[in-house]
Amino acid sequence: MLAIVKGPYLQWPTQSTMTIMWETSEPATSRVEVFRAERIHSGHQGNYKEPQQLLTSASSDNEMAVHQLTVSNLEPGTAYFYKVYSSSKHGQTTSEMYPFKTAGGKLESFSFTVTSETGGYSWFDTTEGEINRRVFRQMQRYRPDFVLFVGDIVDDGARYEDWDRYFFRPGKELLATTPCYSCLGNHENNGSWYYDFFAFHPPKNYYSFNYGDAHFVCLDSTAFIPPDTYPHSPCSIGPGNAQYDFLVRDLQHASSAKWKIVFFHYPPYVSGGYQVEELRALCPVFEKYGVDVVFNSHTIVYERSQPLHAGRVDYDQGIVYIVAGGAGAMPEWLLPKREWHTAQSVAVPHFIQVVVAADRMEFRMLDDEGRLFDMYHIHKDADGKKIHL
Ligand SMILES: [Fe+2]
Repeated sequence: MLAIVKGPYLQWPTQSTMTIMWETSEPATSRVEVFRAERIHSGHQGNYKEPQQLLTSASSDNEMAVHQLTVSNLEPGTAYFYKVYSSSKHGQTTSEMYPFKTAGGKLESFSFTVTSETGGYSWFDTTEGEINRRVFRQMQRYRPDFVLFVGDIVDDGARYEDWDRYFFRPGKELLATTPCYSCLGNHENNGSWYYDFFAFHPPKNYYSFNYGDAHFVCLDSTAFIPPDTYPHSPCSIGPGNAQYDFLVRDLQHASSAKWKIVFFHYPPYVSGGYQVEELRALCPVFEKYGVDVVFNSHTIVYERSQPLHAGRVDYDQGIVYIVAGGAGAMPEWLLPKREWHTAQSVAVPHFIQVVVAADRMEFRMLDDEGRLFDMYHIHKDADGKKIHL
């Protein structure tokens, strides 16, 4: 019997397109139908009625197990509903109907959440992933426009079962309605499933995208610091390295974006032994091209740095480095002592909600029950001068 075994889930939102992926139990054809979302102006059962009007569709007769279709000609910042279908010689299968929203224009505010380590430590205690599921549920309550995962979303990325167990099954409801981006952590093990299950732009282990007036860059820190040489490798971060050259070129081209956000797994700044200081070789590039915030993971705690520039605390020009080891974090985790760059450090299961609106970026740090435990704002005036609050 043909069945959908992962998803459907959303990828790579733009102002006019959405990419939809799912996996079936065997190779099958692919079809996605998109419906116009019609608002209800009365009643209390939600804001949209069951959609009736088919707007557009995409399909492929090539039989695949991992399906990827992009629907286009959509309106910016607009809600739609979608449903996927597959068929093979063993039958047909259909998903439920789910909503999605296209990206808004440059002037529109948006919100995203950040977490990581869904394949991490919390699975190996007695809760068997309950923290993981709570973090996914809480993120959904905040209805983010998309989610950033900062690596280690599985325990072993080369093991097929892990992707369902740690990521797609606990994240099913969120990922069906909310596009996600992810980077390679050491636990992804550079497994081929990462490349199969995500629709990031090639080479997929590093890429960039725009959303609203923000530019996001995903890097693969495990390519800079191969896991078998971690934590101290002869580091190849510099001109001539393909990923380094990509970063420089990419940030040069993104100079008009108001906000610049970079995310990768190993933290250049975090208190304790999981800090990878070799990665500070990237910081002069971030500083030169006006990066505002860097998200990392790997250490399964929450930690926010002071604004840092040229290796010093600098409230005028500094970049904030945030470690969001969220879904793997445990309250019992023994924190090392604070370092000179540490602004806040808490061992707690968590995610970060970010709201980007005009001249301000707001960060709310929330635990797995939705309780606020840290908050941060960056204001930026027309000249690019920042105020950290
Ligand atoms: Fe890690």
